[in-house]
Amino acid sequence: MTTIESGAPERLPAGADFKLVLGIETSCDETSASVVQGGREVLSNVISSQIDIHRPFGGVVPEIAARKHIERIGAVVDEALAVAGCQLTDIDAYAVANGPGLVGALLVGLSYAKALAFAQAKPLIGVNHIEGHICANYLNGGIEPPFLSLVVSGGHTLLIAVRDYNQYEVLGGTRDDAAGEAFDKAARALGLPYPGGPAIDRLSREGDANAVRFPRTKLEGLDFSFSGLKSAVIQYLERERKANSGISDADMAASFQKAAVDVLIDRMLLAVERTGYKTVALAGGVAANRALREAAEVACIENNLELRLPALEYCTDNAAMVACRGYYSLIAGKRDGYDLNAHPARMAG
Ligand code: KG4
Ligand code: ZN
Repeated sequence: MTTIESGAPERLPAGADFKLVLGIETSCDETSASVVQGGREVLSNVISSQIDIHRPFGGVVPEIAARKHIERIGAVVDEALAVAGCQLTDIDAYAVANGPGLVGALLVGLSYAKALAFAQAKPLIGVNHIEGHICANYLNGGIEPPFLSLVVSGGHTLLIAVRDYNQYEVLGGTRDDAAGEAFDKAARALGLPYPGGPAIDRLSREGDANAVRFPRTKLEGLDFSFSGLKSAVIQYLERERKANSGISDADMAASFQKAAVDVLIDRMLLAVERTGYKTVALAGGVAANRALREAAEVACIENNLELRLPALEYCTDNAAMVACRGYYSLIAGKRDGYDLNAHPARMAG
């Protein structure tokens, strides 16, 4: 459970009030429920992680993820209500992540949210998971749109112009692997446990980031490509392990991480130049990465930009970000019907 001071924005959008939204998130391997008041004040944020269950498989097994969500969702929602000190009858709306994500996993949260909304006769609101990640920035500060968001997660790498609370425009994305996927695959090549991102982050602290100069793929425009970097790490490891070069795993991890971070920051600054936005917000699981957070801070100071970083607990998947996103739809009058479906590949916007 997390209670934070709400960072009230200076300019509240029309219709803003202190409505309670219950958010549900089951798009991958986290079963999460949260009660958020007025869009920004987190009263509870319960996360039941399945990481230990999927670790022996080296990644998330979709069928197992869906089954575990079914087992856990009831208790997680009950706990979120209990920690928030409220009952179902107090909740003003139910927000649920309905894509992108694993379809079987999404359907569990979606069905549960529909049942609650129907039983309580309260609005049901489908939330885009990526937009949810961006809204994690509203949970710990007074940021307001417009701003540029760099979304870096296990499934996506996107540059998004957040024009208003309900207006998102994708400016660029990855052509192949997502940033988190590249971290996870590089980690696997290094023999590190799943999920690889946090493992690389930790190991890098003992390594020399300049030990190996890995390629930085910079495409025309605002798109990304990480498959070349991932392949370079795998090939380098095969060659160097045979040659016994003296380059440690920590050096490899740090060098890979630096290459990935360099590209992310470079494209982020190009997007700033093109949009003219003065505020940048990171989002998604990889936004928890220490090197990325530090590099973003330096880049924003140098370029006179305001930087927002979600609190670490709101970087990876959580339902507070879903409740927050749902709140801004709610006060703008959006309602979904009981025919709301899961959209495994739906982009933001
Ligand atoms: O946002 P998220 O929880 O789920 C998706 O929507 O995909 O992101 C999970 C991804 C994984 O690839 C994980 O390795 C990565 O975020 N990640 C990190 C760190 N913490 C999580 N990557 C680098 N450094 C971290 N500290
Ligand atoms: Zn996510």
